[in-house]
Amino acid sequence: MEGISEATSNGQQTSNAQSKIITCKAAVVWAPGEPFILEDVEVEPPHKMEVRIKILFASICHTDLSAWKGENELQRAFPRILGHEAAGVVESVGEGVEDMKEGDHVVPIFNGECGDCAYCHSEKTNLCNKFRVNPFKSVMVGDGRTRFSVVDRRNGERRPVYHFLNTSTFAEYTVVDFACVVKINPEAPLDKMCLLSCGISTGVGAAWNTANVTKGSSVAIFGLGAVGLAVAEGARLRGASQIIGVDINPDKFAKGREMGITDFVNPKECSKPANEIIKEMTKGGVDYSFECTGNLGVLREAFVSTHDGWGFTVVLGIHLSPRLLPLHPMELFDGRRIIGCVFGDFKGKSELPNIVDKCMKGEININLDGFITHELPFAEINRAFQLLEEGKSLRCLLHL
Ligand code: APR
Ligand code: ZN
Ligand code: ZN
Repeated sequence: MEGISEATSNGQQTSNAQSKIITCKAAVVWAPGEPFILEDVEVEPPHKMEVRIKILFASICHTDLSAWKGENELQRAFPRILGHEAAGVVESVGEGVEDMKEGDHVVPIFNGECGDCAYCHSEKTNLCNKFRVNPFKSVMVGDGRTRFSVVDRRNGERRPVYHFLNTSTFAEYTVVDFACVVKINPEAPLDKMCLLSCGISTGVGAAWNTANVTKGSSVAIFGLGAVGLAVAEGARLRGASQIIGVDINPDKFAKGREMGITDFVNPKECSKPANEIIKEMTKGGVDYSFECTGNLGVLREAFVSTHDGWGFTVVLGIHLSPRLLPLHPMELFDGRRIIGCVFGDFKGKSELPNIVDKCMKGEININLDGFITHELPFAEINRAFQLLEEGKSLRCLLHL
């Protein structure tokens, strides 16, 4: 195979005889906010219970944007390979991996599922004891090391490149734990399936699993990026009768209308807080609200926009500041509830294959195409980040 060197990695045992170090292109960030540099990185073969994937498509989620900027200082492990929304093909598997083989079509998942711990056995959570999402983790679970290395041009020395969100998909090849990769139907179009590995599953699942939106209900969605619009898709498919979109960027409204949003509020153009307008529009507040911006002020607006007695707020935005929830405990006595949501409360390995099949059969009618607003070659990753930062793209699909 092109690009594979002769050396094997540190005598590591793999079940695949042809598994060798691969030298390939990866988009490396050397310091917060610095442009991505397409470097020649060495990717080790998968160790025990790991899988090496050839990434074919990757898209950019807001969490990548935050990590690239180094918005949370605890997260500053550089050089790093970011990216967590992707699709590809298994290149090789490490010792002990039974459920996947070379050539299988897969999507990586940042919130892993080992299938064997108390959490994975519980119906109450989609977190896993060992492989759950952890933005502060930057090495493999097995040995606490990285599988990537690169030559530092400043001194000619080879150094490790850190992982991100269990996945690191801005690379032609990546290594992930078996728990963080899902085998899907080989007939499914991998470009669209890429979106199911984070944003769309997160948004749709928040409406279906976390909030359990019911027919005829009212919904307010704060932040109309891909995550917020995926919530709108989920709410529309559940038969919500009023779906209010809140965003400070009015360019998002046209797309929102396509995704089933019925009313729009632009807080920048309003003389009173969004929650007051929403309460007027809905006779007292929405049944469900979703916070998809990662802004604490917006989170409070979302919480108080719901109806007292039964209002339900789902937090999807990633909040990086050390500040705490902007609520007075007594406000919870008004009967409003609030909860966070990871990966739409789907158990990735057990449930995603079924969702893929249902999307293909049309049983789940998610407008995946509508979310892909741009497509670019991998080499233009910096441009793709710019598009998301400027609010011009929902998802820019990178072709690797
Ligand atoms: N009020 C309303 N809308 C806002 C505000 C605000 N104060 N600030 C930002 N927004 C809007 C932006 O205009 C944009 O349309 O929120 C949207 C965010 O969308 P994207 O940047 O595309 O982010 P997305 O990938 O959808 O992720 C949303 O979920 O997974 C998390 O980390 C992710 O926190 C992020 C959120
Ligand atoms: Zn994401
Ligand atoms: Zn587990």
